[in-house]
Amino acid sequence: MTSYTGNPAAVRALVQPDRVHRDLYIDPEIFQLEQEHFFANTWNYVGHESQLPNAGDWITNEIGGRPLIVVRHSDNSVRVMMNRCAHKGSKLVSAPCGNTGKFFRCPYHAWTYKTDGALLAIPLKNGYENTGLHQCESAKGLTPVAHVRSHRGFIFVKINDAGEDFETYFGDSLSSIDNMADRSPEGELEIAGGCLRFMHQCNWKMFIENLNDTMHPMVAHESSAGTAKAMWAHQPADMEKPMAIEQFVPFMSDYKFFEDMGIRTYDNGHSFTGVNFSIHSKYKGIPAYEEAMQARYGAERTAHILGMARHNTVYYPNLTIKGAIQAIRVVKPMAADQTLVESWTFRLKGAPPELLQRTTMYSRLINSPFSVVGHDDLHAYRGIQKGLHASGNDWVSLHRNHDPAETRGGEITTGGTNELPMRNQYRSWSRYMTETM
Ligand code: FES
Ligand SMILES: [Fe+2]
Repeated sequence: MTSYTGNPAAVRALVQPDRVHRDLYIDPEIFQLEQEHFFANTWNYVGHESQLPNAGDWITNEIGGRPLIVVRHSDNSVRVMMNRCAHKGSKLVSAPCGNTGKFFRCPYHAWTYKTDGALLAIPLKNGYENTGLHQCESAKGLTPVAHVRSHRGFIFVKINDAGEDFETYFGDSLSSIDNMADRSPEGELEIAGGCLRFMHQCNWKMFIENLNDTMHPMVAHESSAGTAKAMWAHQPADMEKPMAIEQFVPFMSDYKFFEDMGIRTYDNGHSFTGVNFSIHSKYKGIPAYEEAMQARYGAERTAHILGMARHNTVYYPNLTIKGAIQAIRVVKPMAADQTLVESWTFRLKGAPPELLQRTTMYSRLINSPFSVVGHDDLHAYRGIQKGLHASGNDWVSLHRNHDPAETRGGEITTGGTNELPMRNQYRSWSRYMTETM
């Protein structure tokens, strides 16, 4: 057994240009090091501003094992702080969301804090005179997260000073978030329809890799989408497709379809499928929506926005979005072999209700715990999580279309069945994992 703690060279050796070591997925020590270093050195999504419409509204999250509060302060700014009382360390709030009014009150000894984290009051304060309290961290209140940025309402944080600034880290990959928001006739998104939480018995990286894996749908989804396709094949040609059939059947497209779709990768592990078209391109139009878009943007820009039908965009490491259908998934790594996947859906402000119906139907059919498509993927992930314990081969192959000269970063557009997105993710993983080790 290799020990990885304090051994960045051993960690780097797990990632080769065209394959990665199984310990990335199954070793609990690697998982702990990821929590401590990798997730603290990268930008991670923590929520959307539409979840915090009023002052005092808060949501909780956890990044790299650190408990966080995201709160709307009285000056309307969004603050992100450690969810840790400055006294003895109690979490200040435990629920997923709520409104705290003007201040947080710790449930243990009632120290209180303003919504910017400043310490407001301590009960029986005359017992602290001439003690060291006022000179130490505990008097400073809640610890702010050092790096917080919001883009079109999507709030990201980076815990450590190491790593890249926000613009450098995401670069032009933010165009997928922009396209999703531009699809609103008001240019704004709002979370709607609740959250579907789906526990996956696998390492978080398998899920993220799969988002741009186009060699699996026609195989792994044959039992679900293939059945839907076969059922529909016997209907009259002029019969209108129900929304569910429209959403299911493209998963059974052939290799050529996925190859021609195209993939684009960016520095730092981000990528998307569907450069030229995608499984969402053929959804039928909704005339009232198109009219609202044209009234806002004009015909040419509307055609450009709606013509950009990207499939999955991975904002490495924890956010994946489907701009064309206004659904996102967020990964929450729980253990080396346990990952919670949250599916959230968005309303396009100013759009007719059919849009949100289409979004929530997609999320139920494809992404939710009661989906028939998501279980095909989960079956594969569980199989990998077990299969990697076999002996005789310690490596996971990422060879498809590997070019030995491929070490450069930057924006690359390539055929849609290339495994470049995964190789790109692991180059980034290696860097951010070891940057502070
Ligand atoms: S732990 Fe919060 S007030 Fe004591
Ligand atoms: Fe899949």
